[in-house]
Order: sequence, then structure tokens, then C-alpha cells
Amino acid sequence: MRNVVGNRGGSIVITGASRGLGLASATYMYKQGWQVIAAMRSVESGLAKLRATTGAAPDDPRLIGVALDMTDPDSITAAALEIERRAGAPDVIVHNAGLAAAGGAEETPMEVWQQLFATNLFGPVALTKALLPGMRAKGRGRIIAISSQGGIRGMPGISAYSASKGALERWAESLAQEIAPFGLGVTIMVTGTFNTEILTEKTADYGDHSGPYAKVYEGIHTTGRAFVDKAAAPPEKFARALAEAIDDDAPIRRRMVGPDAVGLYFMARLLPGSLVHNIIRMAMKLPARNTLRNLAPNVASASKRN
Ligand SMILES: NC(=O)c1ccc[n+]([C@@H]2O[C@H](COP(=O)([O-])OP(=O)(O)OC[C@H]3O[C@@H](n4cnc5c(N)ncnc54)[C@H](OP(=O)(O)O)[C@@H]3O)[C@@H](O)[C@H]2O)c1
Repeated sequence: MRNVVGNRGGSIVITGASRGLGLASATYMYKQGWQVIAAMRSVESGLAKLRATTGAAPDDPRLIGVALDMTDPDSITAAALEIERRAGAPDVIVHNAGLAAAGGAEETPMEVWQQLFATNLFGPVALTKALLPGMRAKGRGRIIAISSQGGIRGMPGISAYSASKGALERWAESLAQEIAPFGLGVTIMVTGTFNTEILTEKTADYGDHSGPYAKVYEGIHTTGRAFVDKAAAPPEKFARALAEAIDDDAPIRRRMVGPDAVGLYFMARLLPGSLVHNIIRMAMKLPARNTLRNLAPNVASASKRN
């Protein structure tokens, strides 16, 4: 028996529905006839945006706003209770809320590593834990994890983000094995480049651009900016891909969304790791191996003294 949940009239929780891919997805799914539970930090302003994009009336039971901060365990518990009270066990959860930060591994502060993992991994884990008993009892449902190209392979200059998305994918795979016997499935959407605020100067940058990694950042920023300007797709395109993903029937399905995600996925799977490393180095114009060796200030001053 197929466990497809993609029926109009079903309920879908979308986290981070206040803007970007979440806003576009919530709007699209509402227009497709779904009951949308839009989970977000600022419910009032988020709902106002969603009513404007969907045309939903303030008392429309198909558009529900729920307060949710992925970094706050109490907020997650309260959100799960409110979701169940207002809509019952959901048919679909989309773990879309996410946070990025620029900066190399060495220069990104530990609090930022913790904040990214709280938002991108621990939040989705906790919300899923809270909603799973109801979904298991219902015997059907899908959990959709929004990953990134940075989750396929650790990318330079966004190591905390990359690591959190990689971890999200591993969690989603484990979960799929555990919940398949209960009629539930998991889809991982490995997302390419879309035009949202995550790719703008609004993303916090912890790299020291005049420090030892300056040349590393220079390459990443020049090539990254040019790539985003050329390749970023509209969020509505992502929303349509999400609607297709909801129809997935397999216990686990990985979908690449966007040509850049497809390209990196196959490159990382088919080519030897050292070759992939070099392709990424050249594509991002990173300094070649050993070329910054004697430029680190402490090393340079030490060698002068000797
Ligand atoms: N756009 C891309 O090219 C791209 C590529 C790969 C993957 N992705 C993934 O797609 C997802 C959506 O990103 P986006 O591009 O739409 O980014 P965005 O425009 O920056 O939106 C991020 C969303 O996440 C929410 N959020 C952040 N921290 C939160 C927290 N602690 N609690 C609750 N919500 C929180 C934001 O809410 P506020 O409005 O309250 O800040 C916002 O709604 C993310 O998981 C991202 O990693 C995006």
C-alpha cells in the first residue's frame, strides 16, 4: 500500500515560513489546497505577509501561524502542542528554518557553531521528536529536511553551516530507517542556489578579511558572488519542487533541487575525494597548497628572529 501523503486538504508544517523559501513554500502549498501551519519567530508579521501572498482571510483555518524559535527548547515544545491542538498530527513537516554564517572553521566563534547547530540540527530533531508520536499513531506522514550543497561536501568559508547540514542529512537517514516500519518516510532536499536573504550581505561573516585567511576569503567571495548573481533561482521554483517531494513514497528519498546541486552531488559521488578537493579549490580560486605557509605573521616573525 502506498503511503503517499500528497493530498489536498492534508496538513503541512513549514518552519521558517516568514521569508525566503519558507514563505514561498507556505504560499504555494496553501494555494494547492493544503492546511498550512506556518511556524516562525515573528508570527504577527509573518502571517500578515502570508495573508497578502495567499489572499487568506484572518479566520481561515487553512492558514495557521505558530510561534517557533528553533534554538529554544520551550518554544519547540509549546509549538508542537499548539500544532497538535489546532491541526492534529501533521501529514508533513518541512524543516526549512535555517541559519548560515560565513567564516572559516578557525575564525568562527564557538557560540556561532552552537547557534547554527541549534537552528539547523537540534531544532529539527526536537520538533520531530515532539510530533512523531502523533504521526506514528496516524500511520502516515513525511518529514522533509531542507539540506544544502554544503551538506553534500564540506565547503570552505561556511564550515559551521556545511557541518550542520551534513549532520542534518545523516540524522534524516537514520530517522528514515527507524520510522519506515510505522508508515512514515523522509525526503532530503539538497538545495542549490536560490535568491533569498541567506545569500546576501545580511549573512553574518566571522572571517577576518585582513587576517591570515584573507586570500582564502578573497577567492571565495569573488567567485561566490559572481555565481550567486548568475545562478540564483526564484524561491517559487523551490516551492514547486517541494510540492513534488511531498508525493514521495519511498522510505527515504534524496532530491537535488537545482542544476548546481545536481552537479556537485554527482561530482562528489563519482570522483576521488582528492580530485573533488582540487576542483573546488580551482573553482573558488583558493590559494594552492602550501602557498600561505610562510606568510602567517607569527611564523614570519619567528623566522626573522632566527
Ligand atoms: N537560498 C538558498 O540558496 C539555499 C541553499 C541551500 C539551502 N538552503 C536552506 O533553505 C532553508 C531556507 O533558507 P532561505 O534561503 O529561505 O533563507 P532566509 O531567507 O535567510 O530564511 C531563513 C528562515 O529561517 C528562519 N529562522 C532562522 N533562525 C531561526 C530560528 N532560530 N527559529 C525559527 N526560525 C528561524 C528565518 O526566520 P526569521 O524571519 O525570524 O529570521 C527565516 O524564515 C534553510 O534551511 C537554508 O539552509 C537555502
